[in-house]
Amino acid sequence: MILMPRKAEAMRAGTPKDAGAGSPEIEIRDLHKSFGDNQVLRGIDLEVDAGEVVCVIGPSGSGKSTLLRCVNLLEEPTSGKVFVGGTEVTDLDVDIDAVRRRIGMVFQQFNLFPHLTATENLTLPQRRVLGRGKAEAAETAARNLERVGLAAKADAYPAQLSGGQQQRVAIARALAMGPEVMLFDEPTSALDPELVGDVLAVMRRLAQEGMTMMVVTHEMSFAREVADRVVFMDGGVIVEQGPPAQVVGDPQHERTRHFLNRILDPAAAEPEEPTGE
Ligand SMILES: Nc1ncnc2c1ncn2[C@@H]1O[C@H](COP(=O)(O)OP(=O)(O)O)[C@@H](O)[C@H]1O
Ligand SMILES: [Mg+2]
Repeated sequence: MILMPRKAEAMRAGTPKDAGAGSPEIEIRDLHKSFGDNQVLRGIDLEVDAGEVVCVIGPSGSGKSTLLRCVNLLEEPTSGKVFVGGTEVTDLDVDIDAVRRRIGMVFQQFNLFPHLTATENLTLPQRRVLGRGKAEAAETAARNLERVGLAAKADAYPAQLSGGQQQRVAIARALAMGPEVMLFDEPTSALDPELVGDVLAVMRRLAQEGMTMMVVTHEMSFAREVADRVVFMDGGVIVEQGPPAQVVGDPQHERTRHFLNRILDPAAAEPEEPTGE
């Protein structure tokens, strides 16, 4: 992995305020989130440095999506603090829209507008949210479709694209907004197996370009190869974290081993009570 150029690039891309200051790009402090009586996050502490790629793994219902959603304020934390680029996003006075503009999010479901072409799916939010003019939005759309290998599909409608292509349009749409951070929530889970690779390739390239990324995924080969750090969550806490070779290759905790056995060889694992979804 080419770590040094990536980090250097990430520092250049950072705002002057946080560049070189050594403050993490994302900082999560003692984050709790409950839905009624259901304590979903029970004290999460996590820092993600600029240019770092953190893969979050863990069983269904362990709070992975809720964690990502608290970072970009799609969910309001019950307590605790979240900082992005040095700004406390959990501050009640914060401009939520300004925060969300700095954070790109990609979901399992691509959520493209079906009646708009790929290009139009990219230009609409740029114009509405960022107030960009027609020409700039179109130019940025073209550049980002190119970036995900879909320049040739600029005028296609979502229904004319494969699931993998639709997800790459969704990634390009997020990138066109110029985010400092990208959050991915199981971006390949809805795809047929043969379409997963193209999406992961786009994400790998993004990581190499120095994007700060939090990626919830079950793709262990991606985590092993691309992640700087893997975080294993269970029951709303971080059970263990570290370099992929350690967490995936030589897990220290029984819960991590049990989870990895189940996802690496689903047919061989013992059945377990479903935990949600
Ligand atoms: N908006 C919500 N309202 C109520 N419960 C929720 C909501 N979102 C998530 N939950 C609950 O939080 C728990 C964790 O969900 P989630 O963060 O989606 O886990 P994961 O992504 O790890 O599968 C589950 O029990 C789920 O039912
Ligand atoms: Mg989830």
